[in-house]
Amino acid sequence: MDALADSSTLSALPSPSLYLSGFGTCVPEKVVTNFDMERLTDTNDEWITTRTGIRNRHFLAADEQPSDLAVRAAQQTLANTGVPLERITHTIVATCTPEYLSPSTACVVAQKLGLRHCVAFDINAACTGFVYALNVCQAFLCADPQACILLVTVEGLSRRLNWKDRSTCVLFGDGAGASLATAQPLNIPGHLSAKLQSIQCSSDTECWDLICVGGGTHEAHVLGDSVSETFFVTMQGREVFKHAVRALVSISLEVLNKEGLSVEDVDLFIPHQANLRIIEAVGSRLGLPADKVFVNVGNYGNTSASSIPLAMADAFKQGRIKPGMKVLVASFGSGFTWGAAVLQF
Ligand code: ACO
Repeated sequence: MDALADSSTLSALPSPSLYLSGFGTCVPEKVVTNFDMERLTDTNDEWITTRTGIRNRHFLAADEQPSDLAVRAAQQTLANTGVPLERITHTIVATCTPEYLSPSTACVVAQKLGLRHCVAFDINAACTGFVYALNVCQAFLCADPQACILLVTVEGLSRRLNWKDRSTCVLFGDGAGASLATAQPLNIPGHLSAKLQSIQCSSDTECWDLICVGGGTHEAHVLGDSVSETFFVTMQGREVFKHAVRALVSISLEVLNKEGLSVEDVDLFIPHQANLRIIEAVGSRLGLPADKVFVNVGNYGNTSASSIPLAMADAFKQGRIKPGMKVLVASFGSGFTWGAAVLQF
């Protein structure tokens, strides 16, 4: 008998516990406003604000690397938890803008942190990177409940913006988030941590070419060649919009149903911060009141894999997440990939 067909065996497997704590973040100091954008491309503040809700984004300085942001976020996480560096067994970085095709950004980040020996690799699920990474951490913790995983998200999208493509270049920003994933709660006095209650990831690979970040090996180059448009972020914005709304609504309902939860059980919804109109459309289709939908896209633009970690950190600062709350997070990105998780604080 096909072992995969025996779903009774599969459903009998225990669901591994994952606790998330630390929640460090870092964005570059350099703030780029919509008015600054007017000098970089043919656009205006009114268009960007009304179409996207974005007012500011942070861009890496010329001498700053994405891994520098990641290290600052990770150091904050270690300080928040009091966990010593030596205790980290894995460094997993979710990014679609790695510093190199190889080595992984995880290896660069671990080295800069002073962490010489650990499992280190990247995950590329684009804007869904954080949710996919949670799923991967869950599998590692199942295999090794003693593992202490440094889960980092980092993007340097400003390094791949085409200033001649005005409908795309105004949307993105840079930033990093970090947390620790463990099989047991860390119980840090005065510090919130979350238990992963439910998670669901998916993709539709037919649409892989609707959002791309270039610079990979699909194009042959010889030394001295100039790059073409495909080196940068390219996106079919209208198509992406429609797919994103549909997928975010359906995955949110799926992840709740999986645990017998309903939309009424959600205390706060933190969707991927790509575009205010997508966020509002998803919130209203789910029947969530506006005060249960967290929005901070105006301050950062779309930071891809880092958008949910940055939003969670702002929600803490604003007192929007309190102990006992159930937080639904959902994301959608290039691939297309999408995923959602329920976090019990
Ligand atoms: N400034 C001024 N005018 C602009 C700009 C700009 N930055 N960009 C486009 N326009 C103009 C266009 O040239 C066009 O003018 P025309 O009618 O004279 O030809 C007009 O505005 C409308 O252009 P559209 O591209 O059709 O604009 P649309 O209303 O679709 O909005 C947008 C574009 C904001 C990109 C929208 O499609 C969108 O939000 N898509 C979702 C993209 C997204 O958020 N993706 C991220 C999710 S997945 C991930 O995170 C990777």
